[in-house]
Amino acid sequence: MRVNFVFISGFLLASVALAARPRSLRLNLVERSANDSSDGIEYGDWAGAVWHQANGTFKAVTGTVTVPDVWGPTNSSATVAVGIDGDTCPNFAMVQVGVTATVTTNGTNYQAWYRWNPTDWVFVDIPICARNVITLTLGIFDATSGFAIIENASTGQSVKEQVQAGSSGYPLCQQNAEWLLEDIFLNSTQVPLSNFSMVTFTDAKAFGKDGKIYTPQGAIIDDVEQDGQVLTSVSVNGSSVSINHV
Ligand SMILES: *[C@@H]1O[C@H](CO)[C@@H](O)[C@H](O)[C@H]1NC(C)=O
Ligand SMILES: *[C@@H]1O[C@H](CO)[C@@H](O)[C@H](O)[C@H]1NC(C)=O
Ligand SMILES: *[C@@H]1O[C@H](CO)[C@@H](O)[C@H](O)[C@H]1NC(C)=O
Ligand SMILES: *[C@@H]1O[C@H](CO)[C@@H](O)[C@H](O)[C@H]1NC(C)=O
Ligand SMILES: *[C@@H]1O[C@H](CO)[C@@H](O)[C@H](O)[C@H]1NC(C)=O
Ligand SMILES: *[C@@H]1O[C@H](CO)[C@@H](O)[C@H](O)[C@H]1NC(C)=O
Ligand SMILES: *[C@@H]1O[C@H](CO)[C@@H](O)[C@H](O)[C@H]1NC(C)=O
Ligand SMILES: *[C@@H]1O[C@H](CO)[C@@H](O)[C@H](O)[C@H]1NC(C)=O
Repeated sequence: MRVNFVFISGFLLASVALAARPRSLRLNLVERSANDSSDGIEYGDWAGAVWHQANGTFKAVTGTVTVPDVWGPTNSSATVAVGIDGDTCPNFAMVQVGVTATVTTNGTNYQAWYRWNPTDWVFVDIPICARNVITLTLGIFDATSGFAIIENASTGQSVKEQVQAGSSGYPLCQQNAEWLLEDIFLNSTQVPLSNFSMVTFTDAKAFGKDGKIYTPQGAIIDDVEQDGQVLTSVSVNGSSVSINHV
């Protein structure tokens, strides 16, 4: 496996376009109980599967995903990511690695990144196109450091990045592990969600501190809701998470 340390520190996506998701939105989640299981569904800017466990549980998360085709109005976007925390940890401490597809007047732009909330998103220099099959992995060393890997599942080529909370990132709880399609924020405003071809994470696993492996089965389900409309539907099994635009 070729491992590149392409650490583009200083390239702050947020100063250009994307802001970290504001805390208030998560606090204002409309929560509804699922009608057919003991798991609740969370409605907000995430669609997918999210574990809620005790502090200190999660050490790593991984999933293989086909980068979706997206379409919709200019500046609409859709993001695929795996992450640790972001749902139940104080201050929305969170680390994620993913790819954002944005519809531009010149076609769709695919950008890989990682981020440690609330510090800015950092671009990763790896070319990504629709239908590339990529494996997204995050490993956590401790509450303020870890690593992110974006691997081309076709070739095994990968980019590995060290990720750190730095002086302004919040310490993790390691309570949540997630596989997501996200509706991101542009200057604190939820952008229109692009339509997207079905997103499926396969080989989706999170690793607990005692060697326990968590699959998506049994995790909380999230759906994207915008302006009162639920825009996604999610299904999970013991290895996969699938997210559709409805
Ligand atoms: C759950 O809700 C969905 C959507 O409202 C509905 O289609 C389905 O029949 C319900 N299932 C059960 C078991 O009530
Ligand atoms: C898309 O975003 C760009 C840059 O932020 C902005 O200049 C442009 O007006 C936007 N276009 C539309 C159609 O919203
Ligand atoms: C689209 O491509 C043209 C020509 O390459 C370039 O001048 C322009 O800045 C691009 N626009 C956007 C929104 O990327
Ligand atoms: C993965 O490798 C394939 C085959 O070489 C290439 O076409 C594709 O662009 C690569 N994708 C990424 C994300 O590097
Ligand atoms: C979990 O860890 C976070 C971060 O260290 C801390 O703020 C929080 O109080 C802890 N929660 C519990 C229930 O121990
Ligand atoms: C986002 O906010 C920054 C700073 O206020 C501003 O310079 C930029 O034009 C805004 N971008 C968009 C797309 O609104
Ligand atoms: C999104 O695309 C799917 C598949 O083509 C289609 O069924 C659905 O109606 C689209 N949704 C919107 C809001 O355009
Ligand atoms: C889980 O779902 C995926 C995607 O739909 C499918 O390919 C896989 O075979 C399923 N696995 C199990 C164990 O049901």
